[in-house]
Amino acid sequence: MAVLGIETSCDETAVAVYDRERGLLSHLIHSQVAVHAPFGGVVPELASRDHVRKLLPLMEKALVEARLRPGELEAVAYTAGPGLIGALLVGATLATGLAAVWRLPAIPIHHMEAHLLAPLLEAEPPAFPFVALLVSGGHSMLVEVSGLGRYRVLGQTLDDAAGEAFDKTAKMLGLPYPGGPALARLADERGEERFAFPRPMLNRPGLDFSFSGLKTAVMLKARELVTADGTLAESDRRDLAKSFQEAVVDTLVAKCVRALEATGLQRLVIAGGVGANRRLRERLRTELTARGCYVYYPRSEFCTDNGAMVALTGALRAGEQRQRPLVVEARARWDLEELSQP
Ligand code: KG4
Ligand code: ZN
Repeated sequence: MAVLGIETSCDETAVAVYDRERGLLSHLIHSQVAVHAPFGGVVPELASRDHVRKLLPLMEKALVEARLRPGELEAVAYTAGPGLIGALLVGATLATGLAAVWRLPAIPIHHMEAHLLAPLLEAEPPAFPFVALLVSGGHSMLVEVSGLGRYRVLGQTLDDAAGEAFDKTAKMLGLPYPGGPALARLADERGEERFAFPRPMLNRPGLDFSFSGLKTAVMLKARELVTADGTLAESDRRDLAKSFQEAVVDTLVAKCVRALEATGLQRLVIAGGVGANRRLRERLRTELTARGCYVYYPRSEFCTDNGAMVALTGALRAGEQRQRPLVVEARARWDLEELSQP
């Protein structure tokens, strides 16, 4: 049986159909980059309005591509949080409405749980237990995953999330929105690690992160380098981008190694938008292989927000939901560890 998955927590409208036996039958993403680009960041109200415009046609198309009629579905899963409340409500109300009309269960999904389960969409999925590095625009955390719904947060960011640090630094360097991938591309284009930026929190025990000091260090260095006309030379921008990326990647890699040592586990899963970062993937692969550990990550399009991870999580949780009353759930904040409580 198949589950329809709906994702509208931020600036991606995404829908997918996942079948327990046949796997992923369709997945579609409409990016709102063009809507938010003129403002240099996500404008919550515009995000909600665009979801309203795009979600229903995208859902119809996803069913057509999956060659399924609503009657053949088992459930409708939707991201219920955390995220932008207006954006979440668009997906939540449509999903719950469709579920009511089609007489199906509606399954509220935790966005970060969906991210950490995304590698299960791939041909060689990780087995439980594993450590997950969740690095997105809104979150940076290391989670011990003992099984479905059994999550222990080992460490998290004390200030900016890794993706947020990428985005803010990119903006400082005058890069267009969305900043994270643009900064990564610039760093990868012959950038040199010319500046020794701090590796935040590495000299302290524990698994928490902090990225705001690093962002400030880049800002101060960029100020020193601006030319008389107030701009940065292209080579300086490239080297600043590269030096920043190396500092973030070093920090994340060191914390992942520490988390594996602390838990005694051997498998690491990377999830969330920053998981699409080429350099991070490359470094984790080398460092972990050298230690006899394994690293798993979803393909890039399933690292950033997508409907496939929501449909998959819905399929894994469908059995639990039969008796649920039909209510619209949307929560801007939602602690991942709440899912572990009975
Ligand atoms: O998971 P995601 O799509 O949305 C949230 O739930 O936040 O993550 C988006 C974040 C953004 O901050 C974006 O800049 C960052 O992931 N990101 C990247 C890359 N691709 C996306 N950061 C670094 N390198 C990338 N290649
Ligand atoms: Zn996300």
